[in-house]
Formats: sequence, structure tokens, C-alpha cells
Amino acid sequence: MIIGFLGKGGSGKSTLATKVVDFLSKDQKNTVLAIDADYNMDLLHNLSPDTDIDYLGDNAKFLMKKVLNFNEKTLYADMVLNDDNIMRFTLNPLDEFTKKYSKKISENTYLMAVGPHSENVLNDKMCSHGLSALLKAYLPLLKINKNEYVIVDEKAGVDSVGTGIPTGFDMSIIVVEATLYGIKAAKQISNLLRNHYHIPFAYIVNKVKNDTDLDYIKRELSDGDIIDYIHFTENIDNIHIERMIQYVQRHVETNGDNRLKQSKIKFKNNKLCK
Ligand SMILES: Nc1ncnc2c1ncn2[C@@H]1O[C@H](COP(=O)(O)OP(=O)(O)OP(=O)(O)O)[C@@H](O)[C@H]1O
Ligand SMILES: [Mg+2]
Repeated sequence: MIIGFLGKGGSGKSTLATKVVDFLSKDQKNTVLAIDADYNMDLLHNLSPDTDIDYLGDNAKFLMKKVLNFNEKTLYADMVLNDDNIMRFTLNPLDEFTKKYSKKISENTYLMAVGPHSENVLNDKMCSHGLSALLKAYLPLLKINKNEYVIVDEKAGVDSVGTGIPTGFDMSIIVVEATLYGIKAAKQISNLLRNHYHIPFAYIVNKVKNDTDLDYIKRELSDGDIIDYIHFTENIDNIHIERMIQYVQRHVETNGDNRLKQSKIKFKNNKLCK
């Protein structure tokens, strides 16, 4: 299954995504691909401080298209819309693209990262969102089997949803703090996921300090499941994510039908991205 972490800046996306990757990796039956889709690269730092990796970026798309037998000028839209009979990206075995652009960090765990701003971005030849744009085709076209998990750590705020990348998730987890702006950002994100992209989501409340926080969240956030309430802690070793794992295992489809369907709907309306 493909799970994406979304939420306001600083809410705890990278911390929780890191914990989930570590937890899933402990079971040798699993294969885990962690994707850092944020240019600040905190997931990359948490999982592998040495940054020796081929970053996803504007050049990675050429190999991605080649591996699926598409011409390098083919639009992402056409790759996803015309997916009949095409090859898929796979984790077991790793296809050529996934192998080149991921780093093996343990026996069963791989890490991909959207890299720092490139010359093309700095010279205004492309928008920084273009660095991660290939995920819009990679995620829906990634074939996922049982015991294979992809954890995506996204950029902060609603911007990460506006890119359209979440159509490639089987489920989004929105990390929310019990603050006015935390809840506002979470609702902006959930509204788009529900009404525009039709992607399942659930909330995880993080950094809860007291009963007042709990009451506030319960009053304000009633439009989706709340998986768990995680307390503020000085030591992040005290954060437990078992409930989150149980929740996604109960609620998430692993066949990828929805992410492919929703990605096709999105691309029918927008063919520009290449
Ligand atoms: N439950 C918690 N209790 C206390 N501190 C926490 C908790 N969860 C996360 N933090 C801390 O909050 C800070 C921000 O967390 P993190 O980097 O995971 O957020 P983020 O949503 O990924 O931020 P960004 O939007 O910048 O990517 C970190 O210093 C992290 O250690
Ligand atoms: Mg982060």
C-alpha cells in the first residue's frame, strides 16, 4: 500500500513517517520504500544522514519513461491514461528506475528523495514542484503486492495536495496539531482530498498537551476518522505508531485500483505536466 503523510508545517509528518518506516522494516517479510517528497529532506536525514543518493529531480524522468517503453517526450498524463499493457514499476524485483533512484538502507528498505533545488529551478526554467512531478506517474504505475509498503513524506500544508501527487496514494494521513492554524490547514487538505481527488484520508492528532487540546480537536475535527492522539513528548522514542499501522491495515486497499482510477481522472482534465 502507498501511504502519504500530509499536514501543516511542523505538525510531525517526517517524525511519524520515519517511525512508520522503521516499524514496518523490522518485519523481514515486508519491503518498504520511503519517499521523501519534500525538498527540505527531513525523512532522508532521519533515515540516512549520509546523502549519497541519486535524487529524483528533473532528469530522473528520462529513465522513468524509458523503463516503461515511453518516448522521452511522452506526457505523464499519457503514460497514466494509456497504461493498458504497459510495464509497471515493481519493488520485487526492483525495476531499473526504482533501483537507480533509491538507496538501499537495510535488507528490505529503500529510500528515494526529491533533491535540492536544481539549476533549472534556480534559473526559473521550471517550478520547484517539477522536481517531484514524476511521482504523479510513478505512484499510480507502481505495482504493489502484499507486504510491500511505500511511505511518502510530503511538503508542508495544502501546497502538497495541490500538486496532485496524493492521487497516487492509497491513503493519506493528515497530521494535525490542536491549534487554530493546525486545524485550518488540516481541513483545507481534507476538503481537497475528499471533494476534488477522492482519496481516502484519516487524521492523526499530534503533540497533544492536555484535555483542553483533546476537547478542542474533538469539537473541531469531525469530518474524518481520528486514528490516534499522540501526546507531546520530550523524547520521540515515546511515540507509538502501532494504532496507525493497525488502522491502515484494516482500511487500505492494496490493489491500487483507486489510485490509478483517480490519477486517470485527474490527468484527463490536465495534460500539461511533462
Ligand atoms: N509528539 C511530539 N512531541 C514533541 N515533539 C514532536 C512530536 N512530534 C514531532 N515533534 C517535533 O516537532 C518538530 C517538527 O516535526 P517534523 O519535522 O516531523 O514535522 P513536519 O510536519 O515534517 O515539518 P515540515 O513541515 O517542516 O516538514 C520536530 O522537532 C519533532 O521532533
Ligand atoms: Mg517534514
